[in-house]
Amino acid sequence: MSIGYRLTTNPGLESLLSREAVEKSGHLRPVTEERPAGFAGHVRVSFDRPSRRTPCSELFTLRSAYHVIHDLGGWELTKDRLIDELCERVRELEIPGLENGTTFRVSCVRIGTHEFQSPDVERAVGSVIDERPDVSVDLANFDTEVRVDISDSLCMVGLQLTRESLDRRHQWVWRPRVSLRPAVAYAMLRLVEERHKERGEAENGSPQHALAGGVTRRTSWKVLDPFCGSGTVLMEAADIWPGAQLFGMDKREEAVAGCCSNLEILRSSGFPEKADRITVKQGDARDLKELWPAASFDAIVTNPPFGVRLHGAADLVRLYERFFSGATHVVKPGGTIVCLAARKRDKILRLVEDSSQLKMLGCHIIEVGGVFPGILVIERVGT
Ligand SMILES: C[S@@+](CC[C@H](N)C(=O)[O-])C[C@H]1O[C@@H](n2cnc3c(N)ncnc32)[C@H](O)[C@@H]1O
Repeated sequence: MSIGYRLTTNPGLESLLSREAVEKSGHLRPVTEERPAGFAGHVRVSFDRPSRRTPCSELFTLRSAYHVIHDLGGWELTKDRLIDELCERVRELEIPGLENGTTFRVSCVRIGTHEFQSPDVERAVGSVIDERPDVSVDLANFDTEVRVDISDSLCMVGLQLTRESLDRRHQWVWRPRVSLRPAVAYAMLRLVEERHKERGEAENGSPQHALAGGVTRRTSWKVLDPFCGSGTVLMEAADIWPGAQLFGMDKREEAVAGCCSNLEILRSSGFPEKADRITVKQGDARDLKELWPAASFDAIVTNPPFGVRLHGAADLVRLYERFFSGATHVVKPGGTIVCLAARKRDKILRLVEDSSQLKMLGCHIIEVGGVFPGILVIERVGT
């Protein structure tokens, strides 16, 4: 019997999550479907398994996913009768685990324009499930979370198996609002790794060769985040690249102090080896050339400010221009620069096109809290 899960991520990261899920599931060889029924930010993963009740533990180790949902059903409904029709379907639905005094809650995530709000769906579906014998609603201490996803007239219902987001994996003392989510930081690092793996494949002729080469090379990688803020990229890199030397910089003293406090927590919570591999200093990312020797880094992975607080668009483009100029100096030929760019992306892409030392390899548009930045993957050309 096939068992299906849905994973959630940022819209735009579905194919990366799908690759991660296949890689981490190993011999279980799941079949994946990106954006099932058009749901942005969702990936369906199906396994051939004898039992419907055993969740695949590998899914809970995914770094580009937020939630794991056991799929129960999905329907296209009439938009202006959606809640009523959804309740009829849920009344008929087999919901595993809802028995013998269990408590539950319903949570709804809604995309599109509707004449109702998510809490209306939660209340209506909750009362239908509450009709079942031996179950009761408990919004705070629930055993089972029934999750309803709605996109226009499409509905999907499942059991959310993750209590909190999988990307709540670091401890923070200092965490400003502009901080990157660890899942996005992981995606950016993974794009570096995939690029180096592809290069290895091209050079060595076989994926096995490339993987082995990639793993050994990664242990000696030097990676810089010149706009490090609270240090999300650095902490993710410390987790996934054992042995890599990681360097962070930020212009603001407060950010450097905050990042160092976060690293202290990492050290004192049992990971001194990871904290020891991260060095943070104060500095301006427009002056990389003055601050680091030439060809110091294998990769730069970073998210510069989106530009909301800068004085104007010209300032933002100038910031990228000087950052790219310095990055060209400090990244080794053949190395990689992965950075986010939200506003003025066309002008920023043109800076790369106009540089003889940089080559644009890809621009992955994602959604982050209603903003649509691109993850730019850039090669520092040369051998
Ligand atoms: C979007 S935040 C980075 C957030 C970070 N990735 C995190 O997860 O916390 C941008 C950071 O760049 C810093 N910054 C702005 N201009 C800078 C510059 N010219 N050089 C270095 N850092 C700068 C800001 O202080 C801010 O911490």
